[in-house]
Amino acid sequence: MKDLQFSYAKAVSAEAVLNYKKQIATAQEQLVNGTGLGNDFLGWVNLPKDIRPQLADIQNTADLLRKECEVIVCIGIGGSYLGAKAVIDALSSSFAWLEGEKPAIVYAGQNIGEDYLYELQTLLKNKKFGIISISKSGTTTEPALAFRLLKTQLEEQQGKEAAKQLIVCITDAKKGALRTLATQEGYKTFVIEDNIGGRFSVLSPVGLLPIACAGLNITALIDGAERMMQVCSNDTPLEENPAAQYAAARNYLYSEQGKKIEMLVNYHPKLHNISEWWKQLYGESEGKDGKGIFPASVDFTTDLHSMGQYIQEGERHLFETVISVEESNHTVPFPYDEANLDGLNFLAGKRVDEVNKMAELGTMIAHIDGGVPNMKIILPKLNEYYIGQLLYFFERGCGISGYILGVNPFNQPGVEAYKKNMFALLEKPGYEAESAAIKARL
Ligand code: PA5
Repeated sequence: MKDLQFSYAKAVSAEAVLNYKKQIATAQEQLVNGTGLGNDFLGWVNLPKDIRPQLADIQNTADLLRKECEVIVCIGIGGSYLGAKAVIDALSSSFAWLEGEKPAIVYAGQNIGEDYLYELQTLLKNKKFGIISISKSGTTTEPALAFRLLKTQLEEQQGKEAAKQLIVCITDAKKGALRTLATQEGYKTFVIEDNIGGRFSVLSPVGLLPIACAGLNITALIDGAERMMQVCSNDTPLEENPAAQYAAARNYLYSEQGKKIEMLVNYHPKLHNISEWWKQLYGESEGKDGKGIFPASVDFTTDLHSMGQYIQEGERHLFETVISVEESNHTVPFPYDEANLDGLNFLAGKRVDEVNKMAELGTMIAHIDGGVPNMKIILPKLNEYYIGQLLYFFERGCGISGYILGVNPFNQPGVEAYKKNMFALLEKPGYEAESAAIKARL
């Protein structure tokens, strides 16, 4: 079977990449032996193997929720939400909602929009719904707020006892308000291990339970991830190791070529949320100590009609990493038209994907000519197996890349700053001093 391929040939010379051999070897050794910064957060490295014993329990729980619910609400934010949404969107029909697929998967706790929550509560009225509440810390405000609202609604609609069968919590084994609540109420739970950070948790129950609830094959997803774990291992030489090459090439572009922004590009709208997941993975892992490539994303060809001008001729601080899908899952042939009033008969008999592929090729050449280096990740198909490969490829590349950059890729001290201010402004007990200080600045 084919594997995901990575090509940096149109962006960086082989010599430049091979110059990173020593740094790659050190970074890989740090990841595998836990000798680098943040080494208490390396549970993701072997997760595709380690998670196998839990797959049956995850699948059974998903089957139960699928049987009972018209709608399943996944509550979580950041790493406790983005991975599941990315995979579900990449592998479901773009119109799953309108096709009436049951259960529908919806999300909450990823924002504090009052209208969003009102509309969700309205949608759920008189519907049989279930809740997957995900929070590693168990104390994050956004999902905690959504959980209280929706749990109350579910209990009102179903009664407290019946509601208990429709709630699953994924959280720390011992700590946090969500763990306390789950234990007291007797909810079914899954554990997020201490050594797995939020943004590296998609292959844990955090991602796998919602993905299984969407009817997707989590075993195939893990098979793909495990295959990529072998392909990207520290035994694979740099010349054949896609994650290591990616890490080396992007560090070269950043530190030697002044390319401060990486744009992840797709040509399939289903991949939009893979980019959102990737942005958190790389942004939160590398953006610290005054360093880090800024991760951005565009959906082509859509965004060529809005961002195309800047990418072609704006400031030259960009490079692109294109996710290219070799084979579409469906065939749409373009019809011949006798009158040809739209002048499109030159496309007659071609597949829509052929047009998309020529747009991809033409854009790549134009952007390279315009001074935007292009790297490419080739996925043979959009299915669970290759999305599993893609997720692990990015995770491994991120760990290696962060170590090359010289940061701790597994912490996120900066995300606390806004929370402290928000709690102070909301007068949360314990924040009295901060509250007075911040109010004096208003
Ligand atoms: O990657 C991270 O650590 C964050 O994005 C968290 O996942 C996010 O803040 C949610 O945290 P928690 O799962 O503790 O609610």
